[in-house]
Amino acid sequence: MTDAETMLDRIAAADSLASLDAVRVAALGKQGEITALLKSLGKMDAETRAAEAPKIHALREQVTSAIADRKAALETAELEKRLATERIDLSLPAAETPQGTVHPVSQVMDELAEIFADLGFAVAEGPEIETQWYNFTALNMPESHPARAMHDTFYLERRGGEEEARVLRTHTSPVQIRAMEARGAPIRVIAPGRVYRSDSDATHTPMFHQVEGLVIDRAIHLGHLKWTLETFLKAFFERDDIVLRLRPSYFPFTEPSAEVDVGYTMRGGRRVLGGTEKWMELLGSGMVHPRVIAAVGLDPDEWQGFAFGCGIDRLAMLKYGMDDLRAFFDGDMRWLRHYGFRALDVPTLSAGVGG
Ligand code: PHE
Repeated sequence: MTDAETMLDRIAAADSLASLDAVRVAALGKQGEITALLKSLGKMDAETRAAEAPKIHALREQVTSAIADRKAALETAELEKRLATERIDLSLPAAETPQGTVHPVSQVMDELAEIFADLGFAVAEGPEIETQWYNFTALNMPESHPARAMHDTFYLERRGGEEEARVLRTHTSPVQIRAMEARGAPIRVIAPGRVYRSDSDATHTPMFHQVEGLVIDRAIHLGHLKWTLETFLKAFFERDDIVLRLRPSYFPFTEPSAEVDVGYTMRGGRRVLGGTEKWMELLGSGMVHPRVIAAVGLDPDEWQGFAFGCGIDRLAMLKYGMDDLRAFFDGDMRWLRHYGFRALDVPTLSAGVGG
């Protein structure tokens, strides 16, 4: 039988909550030594029991309270250790502590909003899970239209009661419809946001970003479109020598439609926008189709306008010199630290949107 002294020594020697608990079980658990002593009381004659009982109870008291004390001491030590290692000096200036950065896509979206606000455009939004009506039908793409197939659409599973499956929007153009429904005409909006297509390689990711532009008013013509895009791109790239070329194209929701190319030159292996040496395709645009205007209940004889859609990731790559689209969505801290923007670098026209 272990004596009281030894038990107390073991308690004092326990250097973790786990080893202390082992000592407790050995003494007070079901098979524990003190438990056995208590059980033995029943087998003693009255006289012996009267002599032994107070000693055994006193031992149990002593051991129980020694364990409780040791437990409290170990817990305090553990807390102090944690407090010491997790210590934060709140008096340090924020600039010197590690911090996140603003993703180039978010930065470019802010720049777009700032530039277009100056031209009288509001920012409009729509859902990323969209009905086929908004994503296709109202945009003059009826069910059998071949352009639907060209969009590599992600379809959602049809829910009970739903006539048609919903889709992940394949472009920001459905926001044209939502914005006209909500605000009527005249209207000037841009709609930046995420779009989705089932496509993936070095220059395509299944999720990417677009900005839509929409102007509806009286007597709007292609000249307004070209001026607006030129003004926007000059402000965005902070260059006066940006030259655009409109090429005839086809989109179901615009008539006529134009693909817009921007002139650039190669310098040190990089594309630098400006001039007319080489051309690259930058965005799709056109005059809003009368059927689209009619789809939102406006009279196309009274109202007309232009729309454009442009890839934001592409804009960011051109402006900030990144060459792999996939890195945008890897979440690699090293990339974000290198290309990200400080949280306080909010683009404003007065301070510059150059980044
Ligand atoms: N929605 C088209 C696309 O994603 C771009 C576009 C927008 C074209 C508006 C014309 C007008 O390719």
